[in-house]
Amino acid sequence: KGKKAFIAGVADDNGYGWAIAKSLAAAGAEILVGTWVPALNIFETSLRRGKFDESRVLPDGSLMEIAKIYPLDAVYDSPQDVPEDVKTNKRYAGSSKWTVQEVAESVKEDFVTIDILVHSLANGPEVSKPLLETSRHGYLAAMSASSYSYVSLLKHFLPIMNPGMPTFLLCGSSLSLTYIASERIIPGYGGGMSSAKAALESDTRVLAFEAGRKRRIRVNTISAGPLRSRAAKAIGFIDMMIDYSIANAPLQKELSAEEVGNTAAFLASPLASAITGAVVYVDNGLHAMGMGV
Ligand code: NAI
Repeated sequence: KGKKAFIAGVADDNGYGWAIAKSLAAAGAEILVGTWVPALNIFETSLRRGKFDESRVLPDGSLMEIAKIYPLDAVYDSPQDVPEDVKTNKRYAGSSKWTVQEVAESVKEDFVTIDILVHSLANGPEVSKPLLETSRHGYLAAMSASSYSYVSLLKHFLPIMNPGMPTFLLCGSSLSLTYIASERIIPGYGGGMSSAKAALESDTRVLAFEAGRKRRIRVNTISAGPLRSRAAKAIGFIDMMIDYSIANAPLQKELSAEEVGNTAAFLASPLASAITGAVVYVDNGLHAMGMGV
């Protein structure tokens, strides 16, 4: 029977979330997505109008189906956390039940359980500012949207994730996306985003322990190389990062989102039944270099 995957952070066909959805769909999973509330309308409209049809094509020629799209804002855990100005904002008022707790409840109502949880979202309002110029507010906002959002998602989805069998062959799996700026200096990846990724990686280890002992769920993170996604373009130096990687990485090619998607499908599958608490690099090997040549 096919597995069910919930992927948080899909709002177009350019990012890692979309590629992960495709790889999981190609492997037979049923796809549910969580889309940031302000991006929901345009995503649903574009999907309906066939704008993504070309990129929906799976290796067997069929089109990826998304069983359901849930509006989500992962910086709010429950309705009482939502400030009045957001509640009444017209981009939010048109949708309902988009806090993490409510989305988990809706998924439970609709699908009872899931097997795979993917966190493919990040946000740092001051990402273009150096850390020394980042405000407390900007730093905490980056941590809230990019790190705690994962703790919160796993916390709320864990009770509806199918627990692993004692053999571990049907082990549930959770993963997130991180970036090398957590452990090496990447000038320009500012606003506390480097700190947020460091927290995400540390949390991956602690959550692997807690979710593993509690429900035999594996928790890993993919440290991905640069991709020209909407979020990355907003940071402003993505083309330079891609050129740098092609010039300096052991594998001198552009990284495709599909390569990250395929790794996600592997990590979510029984083939990875002993892998948990890991940072898996999918970056053409760039992380291993100490000096570019
Ligand atoms: P993307 O723009 O496709 O994905 C980011 C998603 O996060 C968007 O769909 C956005 O709507 C959503 N989002 C932002 N704030 C949210 C919130 N509060 N609640 C719910 N959703 C929210 O971009 P990309 O680059 O594919 O990002 C996915 C993940 O990959 C992120 O964690 C990013 O840091 C990571 N990553 C990206 C790299 C790149 O070069 N693009 C490199 C390494 C990691």
